[in-house]
Amino acid sequence: MINIVKVPIKTSVDYDVIIGRNILDIIPKRITELKNKCSVVIITDDRVDSLYGKKVSESLTKNNIKNYKFVFKNGEKSKNINTLSHILEFLAENTINRNDLIVALGGGVVGDIAGFAAAIYLRGIDYLQIPTTFLAAIDSSVGGKTAIDLEAGKNLAGAFKQPIEVLCDVETFKTLEDNIFDDGVAEAIKYGVLFDEELFYRFLNGKVDSKSEDIIDIVKKCVEHKRDVVIGDEFDTGKRQLLNLGHTIGHAIEKCSDYKITHGHAIAAGMAIIARATELKKINDEKIVNKIEKALIKNNLPIDSSYSIDELFEKTTRDKKVLGSKINLIIPKKIGECELYNVNVDEVREFIELGKGE
Ligand code: GLY
Repeated sequence: MINIVKVPIKTSVDYDVIIGRNILDIIPKRITELKNKCSVVIITDDRVDSLYGKKVSESLTKNNIKNYKFVFKNGEKSKNINTLSHILEFLAENTINRNDLIVALGGGVVGDIAGFAAAIYLRGIDYLQIPTTFLAAIDSSVGGKTAIDLEAGKNLAGAFKQPIEVLCDVETFKTLEDNIFDDGVAEAIKYGVLFDEELFYRFLNGKVDSKSEDIIDIVKKCVEHKRDVVIGDEFDTGKRQLLNLGHTIGHAIEKCSDYKITHGHAIAAGMAIIARATELKKINDEKIVNKIEKALIKNNLPIDSSYSIDELFEKTTRDKKVLGSKINLIIPKKIGECELYNVNVDEVREFIELGKGE
């Protein structure tokens, strides 16, 4: 069965997030329905290419859709200005024009960099998101944030550019390594803590894996939460910042590890650290630490980081969420409800100290 979440966006065309099983086959049909005759550039990484690149490219060719493929080395380290530059040159060399289409086939790194290329090539061309990781399906593929990393930190250059559609085939999650699937679990737990007690309890009650029967339902619920936030604050000036629960410290952990600790694992630890700190500061409405830690542990996710307070604090001050000397931390009030908490950057050190319990 196919599920559709509609995303009505003020600044661009409304689009659908289509969620189902074994739906990669419908890509040519969807492109034909969404676009006039066009060429397609598939942007993907070497790992996803070996699994699905040929299949997608062959089905486009079979349906008389001219297509090209740009493949780069998998991993966060590729999400940089050099890869972006190679993608842009590839588009130009193949005389891709404004009517053509980029297809981002892969996880968050692919979606972010392909989306950014789509935002700036010829001042903007259409792109289609085909997330192949649980994490990308419930977060980066929806909402139009595109980016690359700079030496100084993650996602420091980018643009808002909404896709024309998101097509999520949950069968692709079955080829993920367990820890990469679990990156998505961390984000899904985050949506539970932010907005949805029932969703949170799904993870507190047991491990979710790629074969879980309710995976489509979980993806749909997370995408609906993300959609609701994005349509209220597309450009991230208010409520959308709630999605950064666990991310201020999480991004610092990722950066400290030189991206060896993957995004979901880092934000899981960031979420647990912030929960412990806020409980000690008595700014929650109910006790949450025990539940959050249990849900994370049950799903093989970390609840702390081995980096020192100094290391984490230093990286936190470089985060793009810092505005002047202030930063919005996201504070869990209770399971299903969080709020923005505007603090001086210096105060973040106290949160890290309390959360790490050193
Ligand atoms: N990943 C957070 C956002 O899209 O706002």
